[in-house]
Amino acid sequence: MRIIQTIAELRQWSREARRAGNLIGLVPTMGALHAGHLSLVHAAKAQCGRVAVSIFVNPTQFGPTEDLAKYPRTWDADCAALEAEGVDVVFAPVPEEIYRPGSSTFVEVEGLGSRLDGQSRPGHFRGVATVVAKLLIAAEPDRAYFGQKDAAQVAVLRRMVADLGLPVELKICPIVREPDGLAMSSRNRYLSAEERQRALVLRQAIDAVAASIAGGERDSEVLKAVARANFADQPSVQIDYIAAVDWATLLPVAIVAPGTLFAVAAWVGETRLLDNFIAP
Ligand code: PAJ
Repeated sequence: MRIIQTIAELRQWSREARRAGNLIGLVPTMGALHAGHLSLVHAAKAQCGRVAVSIFVNPTQFGPTEDLAKYPRTWDADCAALEAEGVDVVFAPVPEEIYRPGSSTFVEVEGLGSRLDGQSRPGHFRGVATVVAKLLIAAEPDRAYFGQKDAAQVAVLRRMVADLGLPVELKICPIVREPDGLAMSSRNRYLSAEERQRALVLRQAIDAVAASIAGGERDSEVLKAVARANFADQPSVQIDYIAAVDWATLLPVAIVAPGTLFAVAAWVGETRLLDNFIAP
């Protein structure tokens, strides 16, 4: 497994691998890898001849009061896990490689970028879109892999790729969960034992909504009330948003239809967690 730190070397590797007849898969991550990340790597390995994983804690997607400095960094364990998966390249640039001194160009997905997490975390999706655009331009992958866990991120990136005409196919992989149902997240390791228990309310709310939809309920206000009722039993968990939106636009829908994104974000102590469900 090759560790690459510069854009020039990554692009050269990608071009040579493609000339040799391979499809190139890219899995962008911020490291602190868990089974959710590795599911993206599995999919990429199954569908592409060569796979690169980027590990870059992207400073521009963190707000001034957010957890950039304490974001978990587990480099040795990440490399061991990626090596075991048969990954070809780990791209691990220093921040100055991605944001050159004087750098002043950003990618802003208007509208979408300020909905859901973009509303709670101003500037977050500008940072995400910018870094993913840079990674796609550097690696020139045929396919790039993202998780449904961050469903609003998926919507923003699909829009960006379409708007910029980037020659890449985005592949979206299902949410991987802990045995008790909590969606895996690098931030779960911030939770105390007691918070870890309380965090299950996100999954319970999503399950209750899924059951209501399966039972024929389509009114998004009723479904949001079902979700909210679950949080009422857990007053120490603060709801950030409960939303039923069109997955393409992230705009609210009154009636839940197949493909509608039902998403929740909530604060468990200092930790903000997400979960969601796509209506069948
Ligand atoms: P990060 O949080 O490290 O996540 C990397 C990828 O793993 C994302 O596409 C995310 O949706 C996916 N992922 C995380 N938890 C998952 C789970 N439980 N099941 C399935 N997929 C999961 O998302 C980012 O990094 C950054 O914003 C990034 C896209 C790398 C840009 O900096």
